[in-house]
Amino acid sequence: MNVDYNETIPNNVNLADDRRLLRALERWQPAYLKWWEDMGPADSRNHEIYLRTAISVETDGWANFGHVRMPEYRWGIFLTPPDPDRKINFGMHKGEAAWQAVPGEYRSELRRLIVTQGDTEPASVEQQRRLGRTCPSLYDLRNLYQVNVEEGRHLWAMVYLLHAYFGRDGREEADMMLERHAGDPDRPRILQAFNEQTDDWLSFFMFTYFQDRDGKYQLASLAESGFDPLSRTCRFMLTEEAHHMFVGETGLARIVQRSCELMREHDTEDLRAVGGIDLAIIQRFMNFHFSICLDLFGQEKSTNAANYFTMGLKGRFQETRIDDDHQLDGMVYRVPVLDGGRIGTQEIAAVTASNERLRDEYTKDSQRGVDRFNKIIRDHGIDFELTLPHAAFNRSIGAFAGIHATPAGQVIDDAEWARRQGEWLPTPADHDYVNSLMVPVTEPGRMAGWIAPPRRGIHGQPLDYDYVRFH
Ligand SMILES: [Fe+2]
Ligand SMILES: [Fe+2]
Repeated sequence: MNVDYNETIPNNVNLADDRRLLRALERWQPAYLKWWEDMGPADSRNHEIYLRTAISVETDGWANFGHVRMPEYRWGIFLTPPDPDRKINFGMHKGEAAWQAVPGEYRSELRRLIVTQGDTEPASVEQQRRLGRTCPSLYDLRNLYQVNVEEGRHLWAMVYLLHAYFGRDGREEADMMLERHAGDPDRPRILQAFNEQTDDWLSFFMFTYFQDRDGKYQLASLAESGFDPLSRTCRFMLTEEAHHMFVGETGLARIVQRSCELMREHDTEDLRAVGGIDLAIIQRFMNFHFSICLDLFGQEKSTNAANYFTMGLKGRFQETRIDDDHQLDGMVYRVPVLDGGRIGTQEIAAVTASNERLRDEYTKDSQRGVDRFNKIIRDHGIDFELTLPHAAFNRSIGAFAGIHATPAGQVIDDAEWARRQGEWLPTPADHDYVNSLMVPVTEPGRMAGWIAPPRRGIHGQPLDYDYVRFH
């Protein structure tokens, strides 16, 4: 079904037939636009950007491409089409019909899941708001803004659920989404990784590689939810999320490519003199982003996670493809533990280990791209390997929160950590240097010197297309 692209809020949920809901959303929209103006991409209000806009959920034509000003972007509400026979596929309600309304007994748990997910969406827009000033190319600037408007739409997706299914407290939560801000000392965003700054483009590509991938895994497990509107919303969000991770993976691959070219050309590992980013700096940024993202999955052993699963609210990654009873009766899962200061493992009831299981899936998926970066390095004949740090490295949540460990997973004391963390995490000098490279390049087709050009343009357009028009 194609929607009326000219409605105030394009949607495929028959908003026009629900006057009360439409009015609630129309009241929220000006607050959203005000937030976009104050906290969204800086200095961008008059740029015309070649953006895709979701106009339906058809796989062959869900997006419309064209130049638009971001404040005029049509943030819509799209759910994948309902399956009238859909069942709850796991937990104690397995086999029952999926819920079309919020089950009263799980109302607060569901609201919490939706609010926690929803809060990350505007947070990332806030974190990235100054990047437009230092884009390495028009192509990259366009991708930044594409990610930003879609994170805005993801907020809309969650706010729709709150307005449509949670009454007054849902409306209050929707308002709060615009009142917490990334890094705000008084009202921070809910999850710590969404309070860190994303001030340079190396961090942006790390963010879209690692943080957006966390988003993929959270959305994928919410897409299994017995609460059908949540499931259908998340399924469509995953379509957009794929592009965000593409931006991250290709961005990092292009930086690695360029660094390798410069190393060969100048026969040096120290790229500061020639305006490139050392592989060692890339490794330290990777260590930081991967470790803070592992924290996003929560405690290894979690009663909340067990409840979400048993209640049928949040499933495992690709739940229906797993070959077991989907209730985890008597099953165990191996999680890391600290045993007298040493890192070991322990089997616990699988139902309480859902967070760890999802984190393991995430780690495997993160490694795939790193393997591709390493292939680029090898293809240049360079003896260097990027690695994901051990799960014990730089953690604030879970079994390893109280200790220090090297990226290789060796436990060390506070003194050694204090002395050596600059080998493993970005140093002030790294940040200063990376920031010194952040000089805007806005001529169509040109690239900053520290990043290789992409293989192709967006939606069949040439690389030197005017992806952003400044006014
Ligand atoms: Fe998102
Ligand atoms: Fe995303």
